[in-house]
Amino acid sequence: RRLLGTAGAAGAAGLAAGAATGAGVSRAVESPATALTTVGSSYIPFEGPRQAGIVEPGQARGHLVAFDLAPGADRRAAAALLRRWSDAVRAMTEAGRAGGPALPAGYDDQVADDAGPSSLTVTFGFGRSFFTRTGLTAQLPEALAPLPDFPSDAIDRRRSDGDLWVQIGADDALVAFHALRVIQKAARDTAEVRWQMNGFNRTPGATARPMTARNLMGQIDGTNNPKPSEPGFDAKVFVPANGSPAWMAGGSYAVVRRIRMLLDSWDHLSVARQERVIGRRKSDGAPLSGGTETTPVGLDTFLPDGSLAIPSDAHVRVAAPASNSGATMLRRPFSYHDGIGADGTPDAGLLFVAWQADPMRGFVPVQRKLDGGDGLTRFLRHETSGLYAVPGGVGPGEYVGQRLLE
Ligand code: HEM
Repeated sequence: RRLLGTAGAAGAAGLAAGAATGAGVSRAVESPATALTTVGSSYIPFEGPRQAGIVEPGQARGHLVAFDLAPGADRRAAAALLRRWSDAVRAMTEAGRAGGPALPAGYDDQVADDAGPSSLTVTFGFGRSFFTRTGLTAQLPEALAPLPDFPSDAIDRRRSDGDLWVQIGADDALVAFHALRVIQKAARDTAEVRWQMNGFNRTPGATARPMTARNLMGQIDGTNNPKPSEPGFDAKVFVPANGSPAWMAGGSYAVVRRIRMLLDSWDHLSVARQERVIGRRKSDGAPLSGGTETTPVGLDTFLPDGSLAIPSDAHVRVAAPASNSGATMLRRPFSYHDGIGADGTPDAGLLFVAWQADPMRGFVPVQRKLDGGDGLTRFLRHETSGLYAVPGGVGPGEYVGQRLLE
């Protein structure tokens, strides 16, 4: 049984990291193979020094949803909403556990009945507009400055930004949907859905052994993520205890981009070309400089003909911290597929979610570099964009954002 519930979020991070064995955020936690029967009972606590849903492996099913406060909803209404949301998530993550709190009457629709928590996490963030709407501009973090425009962006503003952002993940689709419904019901009269996106990852137990997930281009994706077990991980991903503003201590900043993959064009490339675009082998994720998936990428390795083993425009070279003055982020995406788009090609790609202590030392410089020099860029289209301040976690009885809103 994969039980992450005993040591709080930090303990969960340690377990996930220990199991990752250097292979990125993988699903191994306690056993070499994840038996299907463990999926429902897997439990990630809502309470802890950090919000859940950041360092834990990406679940099989995800919903990203942004809300705008309803006209007239003020800071007090927002505080009451965060209280309702937090209490509901506390109840849902404790589902089926002895003595756990119950969902308020009227929220529940029995959709998740019979299922265990299934690794449910619900993570809350604030968009820049939240602070003007609630008169809290004095508390607006500097790090929440609008992301710059990137030359190859094709951003749909209606599906971007938002006052509040909620990330839901669970290893069961019904459990994830139920959480989404409950969040929406609890928002009624206070906030309206601005946009919603639905994503997925590989289901635990689908592979013979735990592996780094593949994206919809078929690449093993997530290998060179920073690992919670590495020194300096917290400083890269989380706002320090003495960080500014004080209410963001233990929090993180989430950059959310819906990145369409131009799959029909990509499919025209041979596998060898595709591998050179990324810099890693498709079959096993090993860098083209040699070794296995977990071998460090040899950015200075040359082939016998004198050319670079990892091409100069390969995605892993251009994105690497070494190419960006150390800029690092934790990538925790969901794939998405919403049928065929108006242009007749798959509306599919990555719901890219990048976590960092400061977007100016994470996503922004790396995306600037990628935009200009990444071989992958012409097979992608960034269609939406959001940046959210995700406060630290909660103790017993607290609600997310309490230090900002009370
Ligand atoms: C690495 C795919 C977008 C940053 C990788 C890898 C793949 C990949 C296959 C190699 C395995 C790994 O280390 O995870 C993609 C796809 C994208 C995408 C398909 C879009 C749909 C982005 C964006 C950023 C980014 C927008 C940041 C702005 C990185 C970083 C690495 C990486 C930092 C690790 C590089 C290293 O240190 O080796 N990506 N990526 N990626 N990607 Fe992306």
